[in-house]
Parts: sequence; C-alpha cells; structure tokens
Amino acid sequence: MEHGSATATASPNIAFVKYWGKRDEELILPYNSSVSMTLDDSLNTVTSVLFSKELNADRFFINGEEQDLSDNDIAERFKVVGIMRRKAGSADHVLVVSRNSFPTASGLASSASGTAALAYACSRALGLKLSAKELSIIARQGSGSSCRSILGGIVVWKKGRNADGSDSYAKRIAKKEQWPDLIDIIAIVSTERKRVLSRSGMQQTVESSSLFKARAKFAERNSRDFAKAVKSKDFDSMASIIMKESNDMHAVMLDTYPPIIYLNDVSKEIIAAIHGLNESSGKALAAYTFDAGPNAHIITLKGNEEAVRNALSRVDGIRETITAGIGSGPRALSEKDSLIDMERLMPKS
Ligand code: DP6
Repeated sequence: MEHGSATATASPNIAFVKYWGKRDEELILPYNSSVSMTLDDSLNTVTSVLFSKELNADRFFINGEEQDLSDNDIAERFKVVGIMRRKAGSADHVLVVSRNSFPTASGLASSASGTAALAYACSRALGLKLSAKELSIIARQGSGSSCRSILGGIVVWKKGRNADGSDSYAKRIAKKEQWPDLIDIIAIVSTERKRVLSRSGMQQTVESSSLFKARAKFAERNSRDFAKAVKSKDFDSMASIIMKESNDMHAVMLDTYPPIIYLNDVSKEIIAAIHGLNESSGKALAAYTFDAGPNAHIITLKGNEEAVRNALSRVDGIRETITAGIGSGPRALSEKDSLIDMERLMPKS
C-alpha cells in the first residue's frame, strides 16, 4: 500500500468500577475487572493518521503541538502504532494528528479517548479488519482505561487470567439504547494538571498499600454485581456500587505511601451534597465518582438533572459543569474531516 490514511473519533469513558493497579506493567493487565460508561460526542478526540513511504519519520501532533516521541508518557500511548504496524506488516512511517474537543482547561483526561481514536484510525488506515475485542486488546496496551472507549454504552474490561493478555479485553454489557437517560454531570473544581500521574501512582499503590490487597476481590465482586444491576435496571444498586467504588479506590490511594490525594475540600463537599440529596429523596437519585483528580462526575438519569443541579448549586467552588450523555463508541469520519493536509504531509492549518 502506497498510502493509508483514516480519521476516527472516540470519547472518554467514566469508570463506575475502577481500574487502579496493574499485575503486568508491560502488557497493561489489571488486578480486577472494571466497568464504565462511554461518553457521547460532547467530549471527543478526533485523530487522523497517514502511513506513507513519503514520510521519513514518525510525527505526532496534539492540538497543533508536535509531541516528543521520546517522552515516556507519549511513547507509551504511541505503542499502539507499533503494534498495528507489526500486525499489518508495514514499515511505513506515520503522521498522527489529533485534536481534543474538550472544553479548554477542563482538567479532564484525554488519554482514553485519544488512545482509542488512535487505535481505531490506525486499524482502518492499515486495512486491518479487527474485531472490537482485538482493537480493545491493542488499545489497552497504550493506556489501560482506553480499551473501554473502544465500545459504546456500558462496558466491562474483563481482567482475564492469561499471561499474554489475550483474555483481558472490553465487552459491552448494555447498549446506549438500553440506558438512554444515563448522564454524567461533570463538576469542574480544578483545572490543574494532576500532580501524580495515574501510571506511576498506581504502581506505588501496588507496591505499598496493604489495603490494596483487599481491593481486587471487592472490585471483582462489584463488577459482577454492577452488570447484574445494569441488566435488571436497578439504578439504586448501580448508584451505591459507583459511590463505594470511588471511595474504595481513593482509600487505597490514601493508603499508598507516600499518600496520593486527589480529592480536595470541594470534592468532599460534593460527596456530602449527593448523600444529602439521596437521603432526603429516600432513594438514590445520583452517584458521585472521582478519577485521578478532584473533579466530580455525578452519574444520574435525565429526569433527576434538575434536582442534582440544585444540590450542586449549594456547593461553593464548582467552576463550571459539563453534561455528557451515554455514547455509542468510536466511528470513522470521512476524508473531508481529515486533520491532515495530504499535499504538505502536515497538519491542516
Ligand atoms: C483512575 O488508563 O490512565 O481513571 O493504564 O497507566 O494508562 P494507564 O492508566 P489509565 O488509568 C485510569 C485510572 C482511573 C480509573 C479508571 O478509569 O478505571
């Protein structure tokens, strides 16, 4: 093939049962299964790739800025390209141009949507016909949580048992249509970059936390119970698992030595506000969950949005909120949406 190019879009996911801790650092294999919802287009990454003999080096641009491929964080995500190239038997260099549509400085992680979009676009550009399972296994090796963004709806990442990672992949447990009203109200409390990256943070947790030893079993059971609650349309059980999971992950973070503390005072106020709302309603209207940062994700149903917003309005320190719905997963875009200038072999200006 002389030229191979494709453009794809993918969205981040928010974990309901958390992934924190790898049993294999190289292949990115987790200690426990995790569950998430893929968000809709309100937050997305668009990625164009071009494999060509006319390129004399690999190049990677994010939001117009060229990335240093010798930087660890970037190189790890770029692993996806190497795996794809080997699969396709290609030796061509690649130009990758990626753009995040995230509200500026929202403090939200883009690694999951970025890696999922990269994997999806590469497979198409190289003419590889991969199943969602195969794609998720490749994306997983770039960034663990990105494997869940390969599918839409509610998705489980099975931890697997095999040493080669062949049974550690993402699988959809509910289509978007089964939970069309599920939303994530993201309360931005800080736009600061995370001080401890999740990659090194989770490594420190595995090495030093004694509470972590109990977490894998707890999370595995939560993954199973969550899937059951999703099937039986039991939002109340889903909400309690979501909140307990967030609390348990942040507990093992605090038990890490030195401790990892992502939540701030505003995050804690939000936790209290959601418990207050649920208690006064006599049932779970909403659940909070936090990833590697202080911003809250409030998971609720469309009908409860106003009640949740009301409860949040009483918390000082929330800068803005962004509401995302449940998404349908990555998709290919047409050539006119490409971010690459095919004449200059450079990002479009
Ligand atoms: C806190 O997927 O970013 O968001 O596999 O090292 O790239 P790497 O980590 P990453 O970890 C995300 C962890 C989390 C919880 C989750 O999404 O399950």
